[in-house]
Amino acid sequence: MNDKQRVAHYAAQQVQNGMVVGLGTGSTANFFIEELARRQSEENLKFKVVSSSVVSANKAKQLGLALLGIEHIDGLDLYVDGADEVAPDLTLLKGRGYDLVREKLLAKAADSFLVLIDASKRVKRIGENFPIPIEVSPFAWRLVQRSVAAIGGHGNLRQTPNQDGLVVTSHGSLVLDVAFESNLDGKALNERLNAIPGIVEHGIFSGLTRAVFCGHDGKVDEQWA
Ligand code: A5P
Repeated sequence: MNDKQRVAHYAAQQVQNGMVVGLGTGSTANFFIEELARRQSEENLKFKVVSSSVVSANKAKQLGLALLGIEHIDGLDLYVDGADEVAPDLTLLKGRGYDLVREKLLAKAADSFLVLIDASKRVKRIGENFPIPIEVSPFAWRLVQRSVAAIGGHGNLRQTPNQDGLVVTSHGSLVLDVAFESNLDGKALNERLNAIPGIVEHGIFSGLTRAVFCGHDGKVDEQWA
């Protein structure tokens, strides 16, 4: 069992009968979904799920989990997802995928947002390993690019892997991947980006995390907010 699997199994123990559980997206979230399916069939655990992406929704359906539409819920008990970077104050970078809008919506709406990582995701400062993904309305991208440059960010529209088209998110937005030369920390950057019109959503998750579970060297560490 690798660290991602271990931490996913550990987090699945947090799910109790009757809960509505948000499913994240990515390889760690997939291990979590599989473990939930095992608990449902072997332990008769009863719960419902809501998904942050079409990919996770399909996986949940294939495994026989009871799936609610995001438009039909007015809250959820637990949201469990991975992250691309985690800073010491539990600010996150997410959104390497295409589902930022749903991910942040579920993270905010959940009573408890648990983040599952291995040690490679820990950083001193958000933006250390990856650019910040910024979802923009297609007609707004140039003006957003300019506003972002004014706070020290430089980036371009994300292209498809074979570079013959632009990436469009599940929300229908384009993505600017932006590197910041300024020394603003994740929290400060979050506030600056929230104030720019034309940004639909961005990959900094500040003040949303309840706990980070980190799998490393065969163990799981918990860090609570
Ligand atoms: C999805 O948009 C991302 O934020 C993922 O949560 C992140 O990329 C984690 O993926 P892994 O679990 O595959 O590392």
